[in-house]
Amino acid sequence: MQIIKSIESLRETLKPLQREGKTIGLVPTMGALHDGHGALIKESVKDCDVTVVSVFLNPIQFGRNEDLDKYPKRLEADANFAGSLGADYVFAPSVAEMYPDGDPLTMVRNETLECLYCGAYRSGHFRGVLTVVSKLFLISKADHAYFGEKDYQQVFLIEHMVKDLNFDIKIHRVPIVRDATGLALSSRNEYLTDDERKRALAISAGLKEAKDAYLAGEKGVSKLRDIVVKSIVLNRGQVQFVEIVNQHNLQKFSGVLKPTDKIVVLVAAFFGKTRLIDNIEFN
Ligand code: PAF
Repeated sequence: MQIIKSIESLRETLKPLQREGKTIGLVPTMGALHDGHGALIKESVKDCDVTVVSVFLNPIQFGRNEDLDKYPKRLEADANFAGSLGADYVFAPSVAEMYPDGDPLTMVRNETLECLYCGAYRSGHFRGVLTVVSKLFLISKADHAYFGEKDYQQVFLIEHMVKDLNFDIKIHRVPIVRDATGLALSSRNEYLTDDERKRALAISAGLKEAKDAYLAGEKGVSKLRDIVVKSIVLNRGQVQFVEIVNQHNLQKFSGVLKPTDKIVVLVAAFFGKTRLIDNIEFN
């Protein structure tokens, strides 16, 4: 496992491998790796000859009052973890390396979808994500890239970007990894107190309850939504949004669901000061 800090040296390292026809897998992360990232790395190692894990805390996807400064940082441990799973390189550039002139003047946007759901509460977030992910794709020239489905809107927007802009890369979605209690793994779970962590299980429990109700015949959008909201509120969580949306275009459903509708429920909620997201597909 080698840690590479400059764009030029990553390119120089990968170029001969690419010339030999080796396939490159990229796992973009912001560090503080956990088993959710582990699942992405394992998929890449399984599919590709060479796996690069990027560890870059991307400032342009954080709002002014968000947790950029307190986001956990532990590069050595991350590199050991990635290496133990078979990754070959960790690409860990500095902010100056990625953005030598400060915030880039050119950014990638999806003006239609970036303002929905998470984007409605995190202004500029998805523009920052799409911009850094584009840079990572262009720097690495990877053949495959791996993203977790916990960030459902993020992976949807990345897939759209790849299609819209003809990036020559295959995007792989990897299912959410949960701990034994059902909590979706996230680097931000580290912020939770023991009590908040217990109460935060209301998110996954509420999602499961809504799916069970759907499978048992409940097709009313507001009834299904209320099941999730109630679970969170009863456990003293603060709901930011619970939305029942179309997997194919992320548009909200209303009224009564049809049997052919492809449904995903997206949630964001606070437990204490920690904002958590989660989701569940019904079919
Ligand atoms: O999901 C994340 O960790 C980040 O949004 C990503 C995709 C690495 C871009 O900074």
